[in-house]
Amino acid sequence: MSKTASVGEKIPAQPGPKDAPESADAVIPGAGPTVRPGERPTVKLREDGPEEPPRYAPEWLQLREPADASARAHDLLDPLRIRLANLPGKAGVAVHDIGCGTGSMGRWLAPLLDGAQHWILHDRDPYLLHFAAVASPRSAADGSRVTVETRRGDVGRLTAHALAGASLVTASALLDVLTREEVDALAAACAGAGVPALLTLSVAGRVDLTPSHPLDTEITEAFNAHQRRTGLLGPDAVNAACEAFSERGATVLVHPSPWRLGPAESELTAQWLRGWVGAAVEQRPELRERAERYLEERLAACAAGELRVVVHHSDLLALCRPTDGVA
Ligand SMILES: C[S@@+](CC[C@H](N)C(=O)[O-])C[C@H]1O[C@@H](n2cnc3c(N)ncnc32)[C@H](O)[C@@H]1O
Repeated sequence: MSKTASVGEKIPAQPGPKDAPESADAVIPGAGPTVRPGERPTVKLREDGPEEPPRYAPEWLQLREPADASARAHDLLDPLRIRLANLPGKAGVAVHDIGCGTGSMGRWLAPLLDGAQHWILHDRDPYLLHFAAVASPRSAADGSRVTVETRRGDVGRLTAHALAGASLVTASALLDVLTREEVDALAAACAGAGVPALLTLSVAGRVDLTPSHPLDTEITEAFNAHQRRTGLLGPDAVNAACEAFSERGATVLVHPSPWRLGPAESELTAQWLRGWVGAAVEQRPELRERAERYLEERLAACAAGELRVVVHHSDLLALCRPTDGVA
């Protein structure tokens, strides 16, 4: 049988990407349950203390980037292009990427839009902003110039004034790690500034594994409960965002954007499985023994190229009513 990781296994440290700043040695790359105090059984970095928000490993964000790019809903791009084409003035567009991480949304979207673009990359984690800045996109679909700047800040404090002059707000894999209040703040800022928002890859709380296993449903439910347990929206994020934007007069379009993981994505699938099962066990410790066997079987099938996983996500485009300025 191929070597598998088990619940409770510590993920060994690996060297960070070559542009990593000095704090790179704090990184626990990839997913999986950890046993050291202050670490979470997720795909996130070590927490500095109980009050500190979780931080995300750039290695994990890099690993998921190709699957994210394949999953994103292209159907939402035409309505977005029409909206951008109708903007007054021809000087180019200003795009705010909220919770940009290492900047994967910009690397995907900037080359799909025509015209000069200035991207303002927001995150509360300065370490990730560093990666986003060095690997930012350089040119648009028609060869026009793309420039970037970074801004450290929390989405809960975003205001319409901060979005003055913006043409578009984007986010990717963000909504499900926010609270309802933070989603409300995001919607209020976009609606107040009259800016459309393309909010992609929010988890839907559904996963299809082939072949199926009797424990799939229990693990899924425990994982979903884990996502919600500190007041974060998890699988409720898309509904909450639809409500928040609709209440503020926006037209909201939602499209599925599932990860479809097969043998070619086995590294991502294995990391995802470790984090998914680890969070489920943290939520329901009584699952531990059965979940350990489950994870071993799933990782062995994954290594043998015999596992397929669909992780359901949704992309959302909120077309806020244009305003003459900040409302
Ligand atoms: C799952 S990662 C996604 C990163 C990136 N958008 C991508 O698709 O690869 C979530 C990102 O949102 C940031 N984040 C989470 N909550 C935030 C908040 N309240 N304010 C600002 N950034 C936040 C995290 O630091 C992290 O970079």
